[in-house]
Amino acid sequence: MRVLQISPWSNCNNRCVFCSQRTDKPFSLDERRAHLEDIYDQFITGKVFQKFDFDGFGIIGGEFFQGQLDGLEDIWYKLVSLFADLLKSQRLKQVWINSNLIQVNLSQIEKTFELFDWENLQPDQKVLLPTSYDTKGRFHTEEARIKWYENVQYLAEKFPKLEIYGTAITTQAFVEELLGDTFKYPTGMRALNLLVPRLIDSDYFEEGTHSKNYRNILLSKLNEYPEWFFPKSRSQFIQFLYKVKEVLGEGVLRNFYEVERHSSDVYTYFPYKNSYFINRHTADNSKENMECGHPYTSCCYLDSDKCSHCDAKNIVKFALQSI
Ligand SMILES: C[S@@+](CC[C@H](N)C(=O)[O-])C[C@H]1O[C@@H](n2cnc3c(N)ncnc32)[C@H](O)[C@@H]1O
Ligand code: SF4
Repeated sequence: MRVLQISPWSNCNNRCVFCSQRTDKPFSLDERRAHLEDIYDQFITGKVFQKFDFDGFGIIGGEFFQGQLDGLEDIWYKLVSLFADLLKSQRLKQVWINSNLIQVNLSQIEKTFELFDWENLQPDQKVLLPTSYDTKGRFHTEEARIKWYENVQYLAEKFPKLEIYGTAITTQAFVEELLGDTFKYPTGMRALNLLVPRLIDSDYFEEGTHSKNYRNILLSKLNEYPEWFFPKSRSQFIQFLYKVKEVLGEGVLRNFYEVERHSSDVYTYFPYKNSYFINRHTADNSKENMECGHPYTSCCYLDSDKCSHCDAKNIVKFALQSI
């Protein structure tokens, strides 16, 4: 499965402290319309399929449902209907539509997912709603956290075939939450996978952070990040990894972080960054990885330069050996 993701804008009002997109300039209504129309044209003319080889398509913000679609509903629903038709004709196997599910216009989300022909969705096809759980930095109030849980449950009940798929950043705060047994798994969520906490923009746009300097850059920028962001202790993190296995399942450890989770599958295009077609930290990524094969961003511990990704792999390997 190869998934092309396009981010038509980075507008988002949630301003998570750790987000790579929080400092982007807001897009005007005209710019947002132009980007949606461009995606529509690329599909209608078939150009997108000539340029890229994919059978899953994702659309990601920023955010779409916190007012960003107001005044653009005509083109948005036309575009989503087109995705629904491409699923029906089997040209696409998956469609992903992202939302942070916090203070969102729920009726726009419902109308969006009502456009899919759920009855005729084939067993090898999926409609996904990727969202994220981040205990700190994302839920600015307790109400926002509760709302997110309610939205996940409500949408899962309303659209039983919709795969609501979560990611959580393995921040120090999440490490402590999981180890302290205070994390509550969201009802209706199909899977919760993990993302490495990384320097803002290190994923895509700053070449320097894709080098062995990454850890030095991280340590030099620590004062720009909340103290609960990067994992403080490798040994505590290893305990956390065992807990991940217990609470979230071995599959999450096996597919630790994006490299294996998305494998060589997800490519994201940021037209507004004028950065062409960026694949994430994948095996065929042109960006340099460490000798272990994992990206430099996997070195996220504050007290050790070891790779967190390798630690996760070793726990899986150890479990297999001890059977
Ligand atoms: C930029 S968001 C866009 C989608 C949507 N607004 C959301 O938050 O669910 C994409 C993903 O990147 C993650 N992310 C943002 N900043 C990050 C950072 N510094 N380190 C790791 N993951 C980060 C978010 O948690 C989210 O899962
Ligand atoms: S909700 Fe998503 S896009 Fe918005 S600030 Fe947070 S991580 Fe960034």
